[in-house]
Amino acid sequence: MSLLKHTPQFTEQDAVSIAKDLYGLQATAKPLPSERDQNFRVSAGAAGHFVLKIANALEDRTMLDCQNQAMRHLTRHVAFCPKVISSKSGDLISGIQSSTDESHMVRLVTYLPGIPMGSVKRHSAGLLEDLGRCVGEMDRAMADFDHPGAHRDFYWDLAKGLEIVKEYQALISDASLRKLIEKFTLDYEQYVTPLLPDLRKSVIHNDANDYNVIVGRNDDLYTRNQRVVGIIDFGDMVYSHTVGNLAVAVAYAILDKSDPLRTAAHMLKGYHRGYPLAQDEIASLYLMVCMRLCMSACIAAHQLKQRPDNAYLAISQLPIQRTLPALAEIHPRFAEAAFRQACDLTPLPHSQAICDGLKRNRDAMAPVLDIDLRTAPLKIFDLSVASSLVHGNPEKNTEAYITKRLWAEMQAANAKAGIGRYNEARMLYTSPLFVTGNVSTAEHRAVHIGIDLFAETGAAVHAPIAGKVFAFSNNDAPQDYGPVVILEHTTDKGEPFYTLFGHLSPDSLEGLYAGKPIACGERFGRIGAADVNGGWTPHLHFQIITDLLDMSCDFPGVVRSGERSLWTLFSPDPNLVIGIPQDRFPATDPSVSDTLAARRKYIGRNLSIGYRNPIKMVRGWRQYLFDDTGRRYLDAYNNIPHVGHCHPRVVEAAGRQMSVLSTNTRYLHDLINRYAERLCATMPESLSVCFFVNSASEGNELALRLARAYTGQRDMIVLEAAYHGNTTSLIDISPYKHEGPGGKGPPAWVHTAPIPDLYRGLYRSDDLKAARKYAGHVDDIIRELKGKGIGLAGFIAETCPSVAGQIFLPQDYLPEVYRHVRKAGGLCIADEVQTGYGRIGTHFYAFEAENLVPDIVVLGKPIGNGHPISAVVTTPEIAETFDNGMEFFSSFGGNTVSCAVGLTVLEVVLEENLQANALKAGKRMLAGMKPFIERYPIVGDVRGSGLFLGVELVRSRETLEPAKEEAEFIVNRMRDAGILLGTDGPFENVIKIRPPMPFDESNAELLVANMEQILEEDFWV
Ligand SMILES: Cc1ncc(COP(=O)(O)O)c(C=O)c1O
Repeated sequence: MSLLKHTPQFTEQDAVSIAKDLYGLQATAKPLPSERDQNFRVSAGAAGHFVLKIANALEDRTMLDCQNQAMRHLTRHVAFCPKVISSKSGDLISGIQSSTDESHMVRLVTYLPGIPMGSVKRHSAGLLEDLGRCVGEMDRAMADFDHPGAHRDFYWDLAKGLEIVKEYQALISDASLRKLIEKFTLDYEQYVTPLLPDLRKSVIHNDANDYNVIVGRNDDLYTRNQRVVGIIDFGDMVYSHTVGNLAVAVAYAILDKSDPLRTAAHMLKGYHRGYPLAQDEIASLYLMVCMRLCMSACIAAHQLKQRPDNAYLAISQLPIQRTLPALAEIHPRFAEAAFRQACDLTPLPHSQAICDGLKRNRDAMAPVLDIDLRTAPLKIFDLSVASSLVHGNPEKNTEAYITKRLWAEMQAANAKAGIGRYNEARMLYTSPLFVTGNVSTAEHRAVHIGIDLFAETGAAVHAPIAGKVFAFSNNDAPQDYGPVVILEHTTDKGEPFYTLFGHLSPDSLEGLYAGKPIACGERFGRIGAADVNGGWTPHLHFQIITDLLDMSCDFPGVVRSGERSLWTLFSPDPNLVIGIPQDRFPATDPSVSDTLAARRKYIGRNLSIGYRNPIKMVRGWRQYLFDDTGRRYLDAYNNIPHVGHCHPRVVEAAGRQMSVLSTNTRYLHDLINRYAERLCATMPESLSVCFFVNSASEGNELALRLARAYTGQRDMIVLEAAYHGNTTSLIDISPYKHEGPGGKGPPAWVHTAPIPDLYRGLYRSDDLKAARKYAGHVDDIIRELKGKGIGLAGFIAETCPSVAGQIFLPQDYLPEVYRHVRKAGGLCIADEVQTGYGRIGTHFYAFEAENLVPDIVVLGKPIGNGHPISAVVTTPEIAETFDNGMEFFSSFGGNTVSCAVGLTVLEVVLEENLQANALKAGKRMLAGMKPFIERYPIVGDVRGSGLFLGVELVRSRETLEPAKEEAEFIVNRMRDAGILLGTDGPFENVIKIRPPMPFDESNAELLVANMEQILEEDFWV
């Protein structure tokens, strides 16, 4: 307290004079933040940048000398420590007098360029690991350093944590915080106090908080500000437990992190590499971290009592108050296992011992059911995310549905029991019990760590191993265990472990008491019915537990995939007890990396794979996709599943027709006629003849042939950056391809007009004549052709060019172009592959927005919702000239299954009002994102309509330099947040938002909020 009264009060001018007088520097000075001392950044041209440190008048010289010696020692070993500069007279500490005649000691150290980690919003795994590494290297270097100044009684010494907390905790007014601190104190006394005498001690920095850690810029976005270049401020140095240094750094780094344990584990990994930790240090670390935060809360309460008007003190405590409850949820032994894993040590040594014990004694174990599962016919179910036994629609996975499916499978296999696999990620856990975090795309608990034994309700449950009742309960919340019993056992070598039996009948709990002996093979329960067992198909959930982590009947049976490798040690494979021969289990699916390797080996490399960290997607439902771990992604990118992934009506229509007849157009069938009639009804009257093919590439090829047949000409006009498909002639009419990497330019019959891009094109939004000027270029091409005596087959364009960067053409442009083209005898082809079927919200087809009637409309991808169909719709006259004697046939185009699908998709789009939904959700996104243009210089433009939007990123508002890498970075960061997007445009700097049409307003809000959060990160500054 009194210290603050003696804070130095020098001016910038004073600092300049001191720098000159003491250090001979011609410099400018700028104040840097400090509470009890005064620091100036001193810039001395070619001589460099320094920090002039003027100490508090009460500062102890020994302590300052200790800091100086420590820095000098460290700079011999590491690059991230400031160097101490001696004065002209060779002193590391000099004395000065203040105007109030107080004496202050002055030092000069080098300035480390960078920004504090505390002002960097993204703390990547790489940054955290690097910080850990630096702290480790610092501790290694300091192992042989000592100084009398560090041997002091200091209230920020973690070794005094218990003392400080006990002294001040009563001052904390918030009862729940006090309670948490009490819990951590008890845990600390239980787990850490006994280890303290054997922990290494050394002089430690003791304050690597995120404002004392300096990070450096570099050019790579992913690592920008993600490398530590400095650890500064040695004012809290103390001789203490070495691991305390890491604990302090971790304590600040985990504040407000969504996964504090993973954050800490990254740091440990780095530290351990720089300076290997001893096992007891690893065991102590977690509660030391918690203790540091408790100390901070207590010291702040004490300071607040003395300075009640200091609002900052209370505010600075908020992150601690938010984080401590999350930390209290993590058991210290779980944290220890996670930390051991981060250090490549066996995470849970006793788990292996228990598994070995179980293997040794397998022959002495009794069957859990009255069926011998080792030999009886079984049905081993696939209940994974990708399983067809599970429906994408959670409503179709309720107990009655699942029971029906599972029993049918068991009966078909003549099985005596069904088996639900261990360590399987599932999407069956939908109740709030399994939700972690508060974001719908956050990773939920999905990995099953027991084994399920499906048998009749009432089937007897036996203890496979002798033991005693440890706990029992009726967990009657939906999707919980229902009646559950935990038995306690010991291996033949005396190691305790537990077995958990869930979904029993309520009467199984009668007569039980904690400690009741249960003999090997004794029937102690029965399988419960669905209405009493938590709402599940009757089965026994059987799980082994090697450490209950002070839990009881609430021990999880389903865990987050990110913690799977740890939880499977706390609950190893129950088949160690059940004993089903391993070869009866189907092979597990390849891992993501195996799938990637096989893809690289067998599939052409220029089929690109999205994201730096590719996703193995195994299921879709409506506007969501699910990866193999059950993680749900909000799909804001894929326009092919137009009416939603796996729409049940479409799936049903395809399945039904596939089971009845799948044949080609050579026979009469009503479906093709009905589909064509329905489709034509959505078009202008003159467009009344359909052709069906299998891809939009095939559709555009056909459109080219139609135009050429009708006009007798060959030449086409296309727009810059257009893409119309992957065949040879479509690459010819797609500047995006033939002008792009590997492209060889256009052939002589293709003429490219400038893209009417009002943001970065030839004429921009401030040019009122832009539409006419852009159309004039098309006219110029036509005139030039005419001059050479060349006729025109047609003009093809997407009505809103997507690959060109989600462009909305200026009003009146297309009508004007159509006039020019028709005057020259050409046909106008509208590629509505991306924009058709209500996507732009205001109209069913984008050409309607301009009151246009194209001569040929090509529809693709979305009209089949994933089934490969394309439709070409034209006038009877054009179709007639194409019918020139040469048969047109596509083996699969217009086949009965495709028509059933196409018709159903069209019905769904209309009946579910998806166009209106697109308009609403799009408006919400535009309203949320348009303000980004004002707020973030990198966001140059936000445009679009309905669910066809683009966010264009630029490095400069003046030059419009495309921010391609930044766009890709945001897309990758959004993927981390569980939202799928893509980039497009000739410079790949436009973030493309083009979700399945059921994407709703809440999805829109989630997307906007996440994008804003990422834009707030300083990667682009
Ligand atoms: C506008 C446009 N036209 C045509 C195509 C070609 O479609 P497909 O891949 O079905 O052949 C695409 C595909 O991305 C497209 O975006």
